[in-house]
Amino acid sequence: MSQPTQTPSERTLVLLKPDAVRRGLVGEILSRYEAKGLSIVALEQRTIDADLADRHYSEHVERDFYPPLRAFVTSGPLVAAVLEGDQAVEVVRSVNGATDGRQAAPGTIRGDLSMSNRENLVHGSDSFESATREIGLWFPDLR
Ligand code: RTP
Ligand code: MG
Repeated sequence: MSQPTQTPSERTLVLLKPDAVRRGLVGEILSRYEAKGLSIVALEQRTIDADLADRHYSEHVERDFYPPLRAFVTSGPLVAAVLEGDQAVEVVRSVNGATDGRQAAPGTIRGDLSMSNRENLVHGSDSFESATREIGLWFPDLR
């Protein structure tokens, strides 16, 4: 007897950064992930302090660009989400587009909606290991 086909599932952390909230783009951006076929398994709007910013961006805290990045991500409410789907980490990175909105391809969130290398609207975990760490940081009670 054949087994029902199961789609392999993966989770990733997404942030809709404070520029997305300020610009009223939360619905637009979430709708792109949903239209792609990803499921929202957790969603919360919150304003973070410097401590969470430093833990989230632990690989960047020593970089020259980090102080203004920390100021930006703590500057107002953002929306954190966990998205789920087949190869979710890679799919979200491709829907987000290249880091610099000026160079990101049209059709991506950053390519269509951002002109900045810092205020680039979204964050997506860069690997399965980063996703596991970041989901634990932002949504410690999620099962
Ligand atoms: P993210 O982590 O936010 O998904 O973005 P990413 O992987 O595409 O880029 P990453 O290299 O991890 O950088 C994290 C965030 O820092 C800001 N940034 N500013 N030279 C700069 O001024 C600079 N470079 C990066 C961006 O907000 C970037 O998303
Ligand atoms: Mg990154």
